[in-house]
This record gives sequence, structure tokens and C-alpha cells, in this order.
Amino acid sequence: MTETATAVVRCGDALEELKKLQEGKFQLIVSSPPYNLGKSYEKKQKIDEYIENYRRIIQELYRVCHNEGGVVWQVGNCVEKGEVFPLDIYFYPLFLETGFKLRNRVIWHFGHGLHASKRFSGRYETALWFTKSDDYVFNLDAVRVPSKYPGKRHYKGEKAGLPSGNPLGKNPSDFWDFLANEWEDGVLEIPNVKSNHPEKTIHPCQFPIELVERFILALTNENDWILDPYGGVGSSLIAALKNKRKGLIIDKELQYLKIAEQRVRDLNNGSLKYRKLGTPVYQPTGREAVSKIPQEWIKGRAQ
Ligand SMILES: C[S@@+](CC[C@H](N)C(=O)[O-])C[C@H]1O[C@@H](n2cnc3c(N)ncnc32)[C@H](O)[C@@H]1O
Repeated sequence: MTETATAVVRCGDALEELKKLQEGKFQLIVSSPPYNLGKSYEKKQKIDEYIENYRRIIQELYRVCHNEGGVVWQVGNCVEKGEVFPLDIYFYPLFLETGFKLRNRVIWHFGHGLHASKRFSGRYETALWFTKSDDYVFNLDAVRVPSKYPGKRHYKGEKAGLPSGNPLGKNPSDFWDFLANEWEDGVLEIPNVKSNHPEKTIHPCQFPIELVERFILALTNENDWILDPYGGVGSSLIAALKNKRKGLIIDKELQYLKIAEQRVRDLNNGSLKYRKLGTPVYQPTGREAVSKIPQEWIKGRAQ
């Protein structure tokens, strides 16, 4: 498996491989574990047994996490005979008892999925972002998105008349909108990886690279190490390398890791297909003054 100065790919059990890693090495651990749905790569268990198995893993994540770093844990629901178990609710106490502090519970909304007939169709998953301490990296400017009304101005006080927003855009918030057909209609933010997505591989549930990139850009700096202990086809690794970070992934399935390695080679030779981060989100078409970029900011850009 790959072992270079910037990219490491390890095949094995997450807990066993985590035990071998250096304490405090990783600025960000970003991962989506199996959801206990009985997919080809997991054995379905009772929900309590499933969760209990993660207690030791989360303790290891705490050990290998940098003091100013954190974990992004992306999960959906486990469903048993029609009963829904929201996994973030189950995982949250384990992270808390280990010492992690929750900073955001990001809702990842997507427009497509299975159509339920006896309950409302599920259209979102969550990503819990925890930090190891109160002193942590958060680069908001790296991930700002275009504001809907950049022309808004303060209407009273000392700043009356001046633009009230930020020239770099607004905070992307904790609600991230994803649609499978975004690249067809060009209006939405980050699409879920479904069959016609440019990043799709044989993996049944891979991350969109762009989802990981937003976390990596906001929560790490260049040359930092990123870890994904359930690395699959390497979406976290690609997101790290693409942004001048270093990445280590673990997965027990060799077939996925071989694809991850091929994707790294494709990234290096410029042939990897991926959806670009920051594809325009929403361009207002109204003619109101608040829809227009302030003259001051346009002048500032030209200088
Ligand atoms: C939800 S998928 C993650 C997909 C990944 N985010 C991507 O973009 O490709 C979970 C992954 O965990 C792996 N896995 C399951 N049990 C594991 C274990 N005990 N140790 C390591 N990997 C495991 C599976 O093979 C699967 O690829």
C-alpha cells in the first residue's frame, strides 16, 4: 500500500491500525463509519452492540488527535424493521465522555434518495464536528460562500451607509445543501455522490470530495495531517492532497483502497474527475440594490 511523505494508505481493521499511530499527529480526523445497515462491508448488529464497539475507537481518535485539532464524524440513520435510530444521537455521548467538545452539528441535505412509504423520506445526514480543546483552528475566510445580498448596508449608527456584509462572502452556516442533479441545473451547492456524479466509483456510499474539502479548508492549515479511519475509496485523502495537506486512510477492504490509490495517481496526473469546490451557489436575478456587489468592494478588487 502507498507510503509516501504526504499520502499513506493502510489496509486493516480501524482499531488495530489506530493503535499504531503517533499521539497528537492529526489536525483533523474526518470520517464516515459503517452505519450498521448490513452493507457488503459490515455485519449488522444490535444497535447497542454496534455503538459499544466504537467506545475504544473514539478513545484512540482522541489520542491521535492534535491538541488544536478535532474530529468530523459524518453519519445518517440505522434502520431496523422500519424503526429509525439516528446515529449522531448514539455517538454524541461517546465523544463527550472521551473529552471532545461539540462545535457544530452540520446538516448535509440532499435532494435524492430512497422513497419511504411508511414514514417521510430521509433527505439529510449529519456531520458532528468536535474539537479536542477550546483552542482550535477555524479558518472561516477559506470557506465563505457568496452572499445573497452583498449590497446590504448598515442603515443606522456609525457605519450607516457602509456595506454590512463581508467582501469575501458569508459564513456557509451549519446547513449544507446537496442535490444529485446540481451539475445539470447549476444552482445548488454540493451534490450527493450518486450514479451520474463525476466522482462515482464502485463504493456504495462515498463522500463527495467537496464536502470533505470544506471541513479541511476550515479546520486545518497547509501541511497538516488528515486521518480517515474508514477511508473507502479515498475521498478524504484526495481532498487533503488537493489542498496541500497530508493524508492517511485506513480501510479493511483492499478493493476500495486500490481505487483510492488509482484516484491519487489520477489526481497527480491531472485526470481525476471531481466537482470543483465553490461552484457558484446562487446568483440573485432581482434588480434590487441589495442584490448588487457594493461599488466600494469592486473598487477594492481592482486595486
Ligand atoms: C461509509 S464507508 C466510508 C466511505 C468513504 N467515506 C469514501 O468516501 O469512500 C465505510 C467504510 O468503512 C470500511 N470499514 C468497515 N469496517 C471497518 C473496520 N473494522 N476497519 C476499517 N474499515 C472498515 C468499509 O470497507 C467502508 O469502505
